[in-house]
Amino acid sequence: MRIAVYPGSFDPITNGHEDIIKRSANVFDKVIVAVLINPDKKGLFQIDERVELIRRVTAPYKNVSVESFSGLLINFMQSRDAKVIIKGLRAVSDFEYEFKMALMNNKLDSTIETLFMMTNAQYSYLSSSSVKQVAIFGGCIKGLVPDLIINDVINKIRGK
Ligand code: PNS
Repeated sequence: MRIAVYPGSFDPITNGHEDIIKRSANVFDKVIVAVLINPDKKGLFQIDERVELIRRVTAPYKNVSVESFSGLLINFMQSRDAKVIIKGLRAVSDFEYEFKMALMNNKLDSTIETLFMMTNAQYSYLSSSSVKQVAIFGGCIKGLVPDLIINDVINKIRGK
């Protein structure tokens, strides 16, 4: 069984993330979306809220599951017997950071591969942080995040 892990912060999941998840689910037997627990970075949503939002959005994809992890991604991969890390690439500006991370992960465990998927052109400008900026200043986030979570994002920002 070919298991891939799609790691990230997902604060919150965007349409760009959903696109990568959907396409990965067509390629692998099983895709685990893995939300990083990062004690140094306080996000908008708590980790369990992010997991819940992703579970809601990915409910139609039967071979996708969602978990959180802390520490090294490679250790999480080993514990799930997963051999492939999926990363989305939006622009050249993503490359240097992703390149370094892929090399470091390869150094830590050379049996694990990082595969890059080109983002869908319509989402190439999209990031969780830009979605938050737009929402904080009252802009419309329809088309940026899945319809199923628009109200969650707006309510969360209003409640802050
Ligand atoms: O959505 P993000 O914030 O760009 O995701 C980054 C993530 C979670 C993929 C990355 O920070 C990560 O894998 N962190 C776990 C720590 C780790 O394994 N570090 C070693 C590679 S340098």
